[in-house]
Amino acid sequence: MTAMGKDLELGKDLIGLEDLSREQILGILDTAEPFKEISERKIKKVPVLRGQTIVNLFFEPSTRTRISFEFAEKRLSADTVNISSSGSSVQKGETLVDTARNLEAMRIHMVVVRHGSSGAARFLADRIPSNVINAGDGQHAHPTQALLDLLTIRDRFGAIEGRRVCIVGDIKHSRVARSNVTGFLKCGAEVAVCGPRTLIPAGIEDLGVQVFGRVEEAIEWCDVLYVLRLQLERMQGGYVPSLREYNRVFGVTSRRLESAADDMIVLHPGPMNRGVEIDSDVADGPRSVILPQVTNGVAVRMAVLYLLAGGRPELAESAKGRMP
Ligand code: CP
Repeated sequence: MTAMGKDLELGKDLIGLEDLSREQILGILDTAEPFKEISERKIKKVPVLRGQTIVNLFFEPSTRTRISFEFAEKRLSADTVNISSSGSSVQKGETLVDTARNLEAMRIHMVVVRHGSSGAARFLADRIPSNVINAGDGQHAHPTQALLDLLTIRDRFGAIEGRRVCIVGDIKHSRVARSNVTGFLKCGAEVAVCGPRTLIPAGIEDLGVQVFGRVEEAIEWCDVLYVLRLQLERMQGGYVPSLREYNRVFGVTSRRLESAADDMIVLHPGPMNRGVEIDSDVADGPRSVILPQVTNGVAVRMAVLYLLAGGRPELAESAKGRMP
């Protein structure tokens, strides 16, 4: 746990974990702790963000992130509007900034944005006065995913510092991998990646990240195995011979996990391609914390919304019953 206070002020926006200090990251996780309990109540609603208007602007498909933000906003009593590219004037050629400026003209407070272009969230944040939260931009960043992953690892081990985390799969095309490598390193974990060399960014070792070519070695080494899918929609060439071949060489199977430490856990951000990067008996097995990740996503997003709205971390417990 960190000492919380003025240092935790996040500024106007949350674009990427590279903009946050270790203390700010751990402070967000601490702020999420009291918010976990709200989702366990019979009536899952507190008036913390009453009067705040939040627009969820999703220009790329999403299940977990979009619904998780929407639950977080509704549980904090914010007024929310959901906009996707299909059915909006984006289909008629309206730009991202014009869409956002029109929303601003309706007097909103925050925008949660997912976009297919790297840098879209920063571009928007620099042009509108509302708070902007990045819900995933191209191959750049997915900061709230990394925060919920950090919270899930801390829940299991008590601390992130000193833990060995290996991300296995398509690192090259993954904004989740980029945000998580940043978050894990800032929080003092040992970090490794594993996958076909074609899917590992050149020079990643310079960040202090170890590279494993064999998933068996990675499994023996790590406390946390973070499995990623192959992002076929972002690939423009033959990065792997076939999905079957990928599963044969890098697939996370219960047989391969036999050599893991007893307390090793498996994470996946979703969506999963069962039978490709992960087998069903692992995804649904005793080492999997994939559904606790989803549960923690709501609490982490509540914490981020609360802090960006000016809430004080040390008052999060008592603020559950009133405005920030
Ligand atoms: N983890 C994640 O970003 O999932 P969605 O694409 O469903 O939001």
